[in-house]
Amino acid sequence: MADERDDIRSRVSIVELVGQRVRLTRAGKDWKGLCPFHDDKTPSFTVSERFGTYRCWACGEHGDIFTWVMKTQNVEFGEAIQQLADIAGVKLERKGAPRPEQKAERELARAAMEDALLFFREELARSEAAKAYLTRRDLPLDVVQAWEMGYAPDNGEAITVYLKRKGHSLNLCKELFLVDQDPSGGFFDKFRGRLMFPIRDEQGHLVAFGGRLLGDGQPKYINSSDTPLFRKSRVLYGLHRARDVASKERHLVLCEGYLDVIACHRAKVTTAVASLGTAFTPDHAKLIKRWADDVTLLYDADEAGQKATEKALEILEETGLRVKIAQMPAGDDPDTLLKRDGAGSVLKVVQDSQSPMDFRFRRLEKKLKPADGAFWEEAVQILATAKSDLEFDKHVVRLAGLYPEIPNPVQAQSALRRWVGRVRKGQPGPAPVARSKARHEPIPNLKIHSAEAAIFRGLFEPTTSAKSHEVVKGDQWLTVAGRELAAEILTALPQPPDPDEQDLWVHRIENPEMVQLLTLIAEDRRFQPFGEQQLTDALTELKKRLEQAELQDLKKESGKGNEIVARLKKMRPKYDKSVETDMF
Ligand code: GTP
Ligand code: MN
Repeated sequence: MADERDDIRSRVSIVELVGQRVRLTRAGKDWKGLCPFHDDKTPSFTVSERFGTYRCWACGEHGDIFTWVMKTQNVEFGEAIQQLADIAGVKLERKGAPRPEQKAERELARAAMEDALLFFREELARSEAAKAYLTRRDLPLDVVQAWEMGYAPDNGEAITVYLKRKGHSLNLCKELFLVDQDPSGGFFDKFRGRLMFPIRDEQGHLVAFGGRLLGDGQPKYINSSDTPLFRKSRVLYGLHRARDVASKERHLVLCEGYLDVIACHRAKVTTAVASLGTAFTPDHAKLIKRWADDVTLLYDADEAGQKATEKALEILEETGLRVKIAQMPAGDDPDTLLKRDGAGSVLKVVQDSQSPMDFRFRRLEKKLKPADGAFWEEAVQILATAKSDLEFDKHVVRLAGLYPEIPNPVQAQSALRRWVGRVRKGQPGPAPVARSKARHEPIPNLKIHSAEAAIFRGLFEPTTSAKSHEVVKGDQWLTVAGRELAAEILTALPQPPDPDEQDLWVHRIENPEMVQLLTLIAEDRRFQPFGEQQLTDALTELKKRLEQAELQDLKKESGKGNEIVARLKKMRPKYDKSVETDMF
């Protein structure tokens, strides 16, 4: 019964939709561009995310997502709603607009909810226990009224009787999570002995309730489950009060609970909202995206809150929102902080919020120590999420000093950078940043043959690394650099590399130019894909070249009796033309 059009509207961004056809730029809280409905010379066309509408101030065309699709694609409403439902991932129960009787049903449901709210508010004014609780929680009357708090008495069927007397169908009230039914069919109150928080959607429609026990006990909170008027994942507590400021600032603060939202608003953080219950879903993130580009996460400072922060952070980032994380003093939530340290401290915590990367490293460093291998596995994953070179460098420099395997911090840094590079390659996402430029430049003094390079390349492939290592131990080098590189590798890596390990051994090589050459080879796209066949081919090629070179040398130097190996050590690269064209 919940209006599908509202549902679709809340999930389809009009700015994104219109933006597919019209180049839009931000203008205050709206977007503007050239009107597609007339020959527009100056941008007279505006789109409002807040209202889900577009309007041309010159030609007067205006409408919402549905009229947009109808007009631009010249289709009927039924077709437009179907298209948009598909985009929104909403399943239509019927074609076209709601039937009048369905509209009437919604009106009845809304009326029952409003009457319930009236009842709860009257009961609060009457209940000494509830008022004592408000005092204990430091909730003054103006706040109680602003947030329309109420009280559900504890006598079993208070609201049931009231709603029935008001003429509401108890079956409907049961669907609305106001009353329940025992096995014999008798109705009773769903909320009993609880402080009541009305939950309004962004439009301000009353759609649900949350109720907190006055005392200790379980469950501490009860929230309406999904009803004909309410889907938990499409509503954020406080959004109808936060949205106007939020859409101006394009910023929202996301908390965990009702009382946190209220505490924030009292502390002048008037863009605070909360998801209901604890689960934050991608639908919530989509809803936020319609109002904001930036989100500050202000969850409880306890372990549960920090875990929830991690999850929400991921969802928000996936939705394309920029996130910051507020750091609360241990044991606090915004409500306790307000009570103890005053409004200024809540505001300050929001203003001092930190980047996701700082947050993730703080979590990691609490959990693991740099002496643990697992620390580095996670550190590299976090580094890979860096949004800028600056952010990346800040952390990589700091971490390099802690890296236990490589005492030289410069080498440790490049080891980490390389590792991160590999992690990034394995996942689609932001383009690699913070790579050393030098890596892509040729190294003039270290020329090796491409067949030699292929042998070294084999060390970086799990399927060939063992065999490559065996070949590296051999004596088939054609160039000085190839021979030296092989010697350095064997010092740094006496045993074949473990295919499951990162190739950090590279950085144990003393000569930085050699390290650079080796990483160049490892990443060269000419060696992709690489497998056993490529390794065998390289070895064959190398041996062939070597024989030719030896033959030439033997012709030139015959009679001198030099051993081949000794000659090869002195050997300058064989710059006969055919070799040169095959240099790496
Ligand atoms: P107080 O303990 O009254 O200060 O409330 P709080 O807002 O600090 O609650 P808490 O941090 O424990 O929980 C945050 C939010 O999670 C609450 O506002 C509720 O929406 C939800 N929540 C907490 N406990 C329960 C519960 O027992 N059941 C359900 N369904 N939700 C809960
Ligand atoms: Mn809390």
